Amino acid sequence: MERIAILTSGGDAPGMNACIRAVTRFALNKGLKVFGVERGYQGLIDNDLRELKARSVSDIIQRGGTILKTARCPEFMKIEGQQKAMDTLKKHRIDALVVIGGNGSFMGVKDLKTNFGFNAVGIPGTIDNDLQYTDFTLGFDTSVNTCLSAINNIRDTMTSHDRISIIEVMGRKCGDIALYTALCGGAETVLIPEVPYNIIDISNKLNHNAEKGKNSDIIVLAEGVCSAQDLKIMLKGINPKLSFRSTTLGHIQRGGSPSMADRTLAANFGVRAVELLMEGKSGRVVGIKNNAIIDMDIDEAMACKGEFNKALYERINILSI
Ligand code: ADP
Ligand code: F6P
Repeated sequence: MERIAILTSGGDAPGMNACIRAVTRFALNKGLKVFGVERGYQGLIDNDLRELKARSVSDIIQRGGTILKTARCPEFMKIEGQQKAMDTLKKHRIDALVVIGGNGSFMGVKDLKTNFGFNAVGIPGTIDNDLQYTDFTLGFDTSVNTCLSAINNIRDTMTSHDRISIIEVMGRKCGDIALYTALCGGAETVLIPEVPYNIIDISNKLNHNAEKGKNSDIIVLAEGVCSAQDLKIMLKGINPKLSFRSTTLGHIQRGGSPSMADRTLAANFGVRAVELLMEGKSGRVVGIKNNAIIDMDIDEAMACKGEFNKALYERINILSI
């Protein structure tokens, strides 16, 4: 193996740049040539790639976003689009591909393996932490830290005004951003798609909290449940005397300088991915399980059923008395 390519795909995540740097520099150390593909699978279809040297990835370890840009590329989901991508890979004599992305991007890795026998590995890069085979995905830690910083500010003003704050966070169908934000932000309530909720119970809890002398109340809401605005309307309908404010944190959660945890993951994932390619192991993904870097067959990884962290969820309620 002499030539590898790397791309970032799907929603960007803090730490993607640090990971591009790790893959590039480790591969260069091993005597490989490295090519960066622009805008995910779209760049493969459009023949848009450039050689990456050690200096091409200078000064990016601390930057959010991705220097390679990213895209959602519906054309790649069809065999015709994949054939175009393969033509580009062949044209540049690329032997193997590193894909940094989430669930959807990994389907692309799977298709390249199944439909063309092409050597590709996946690195989990998404703020959502919704890949069940790995404890953490690249970008999740930074994103939660951004949410925590926002909560700190919001709590100040909520306390001054004796208000209840509903804070909506991202995560698609996964509640992990909300779960960890609520736990670490000392929220009173968390609503996540994994646990059904009862609006009357939430309303009653708000009343009890006020009786207990709490002068601010934070509800962290995962976007996969409903919108902050809708929840506010429902709660105000039941409890018109209480004062609510809702905040949707939005794309602030996707940017920013990666945390220490994400930079460490970026280095470890990047190095392991290149090692796998050099060992000729294709169609695999890297991850972290019980603090150890792992790799797994992509079919096996995608079939993993997640176990919702019920203990963490319960701790949020117990600790918010
Ligand atoms: P993420 O990787 O963050 O989950 P998406 O779900 O948007 O983001 O997927 C990113 C890209 O991965 C898609 O735009 C598409 O190019 C590719 N992709 C998604 N699903 C498939 C699929 N079933 N087969 C091939 N490629 C796919
Ligand atoms: O998958 C990452 C994510 O940020 C989700 O949490 C969110 O639902 C979605 O992407 C937002 O997508 P867009 O950037 O297209 O608005």
